Amino acid sequence: MRILLTSSSRHGSTDEVGAVIAQELRAAGHDVDQARPEDVADIAGYDAFVLGSAVYMTRWTPQAIDFTERFREQLRSRPVWAFSVGLSGLPKGKISDPHRIGPVLLSIDTKDHVTFAGRFNPADLSLRERSIARMGGASEGDFLDLDAVRAWAGSITAALAASA
Ligand SMILES: Cc1cc2nc3c(=O)[nH]c(=O)nc-3n(C[C@H](O)[C@H](O)[C@H](O)COP(=O)(O)O)c2cc1C
Repeated sequence: MRILLTSSSRHGSTDEVGAVIAQELRAAGHDVDQARPEDVADIAGYDAFVLGSAVYMTRWTPQAIDFTERFREQLRSRPVWAFSVGLSGLPKGKISDPHRIGPVLLSIDTKDHVTFAGRFNPADLSLRERSIARMGGASEGDFLDLDAVRAWAGSITAALAASA
């Protein structure tokens, strides 16, 4: 199947998660394009979609939200999986609830949506970002769990195989 995977990342962790998912889907025989949502002008010809975004201030990035708005009608007629990358839910890192991005996802009726833990390295951030994240109580560190990402990608390949 032809699959479009979009990842919207400011500091790289969401792109890394997206790349691992793309790799797993390719290993299962799918033809996968990975792109930034703002670079996609046309989604005709894709059979399925995986949409991913980093979560900032409880929301997907404006580019990721804009993508779902631009292509809402076409996305409704194809299987869509979504993932968020954020730091909520970690022991000390309750910045806010990524489920507040729910309205975006509900409007496109995803097969599944998961949130993967991300990365907070103050050295990579602007002063403004650092203070917002610290005010939110984010835990510093790299919490990416690529095995969990691979397992989720496996659930996508299984679902696609079952529907083929
Ligand atoms: C300014 C700022 C705001 C953030 N806001 C949230 C948030 O509201 N919810 C959340 O779960 N994570 C939040 N995070 C954590 C990021 O989602 C996390 O660092 C993620 O790995 C970033 O993805 P990226 O590297 O692809 O940009 C925030 C981080 C920063 C720096």
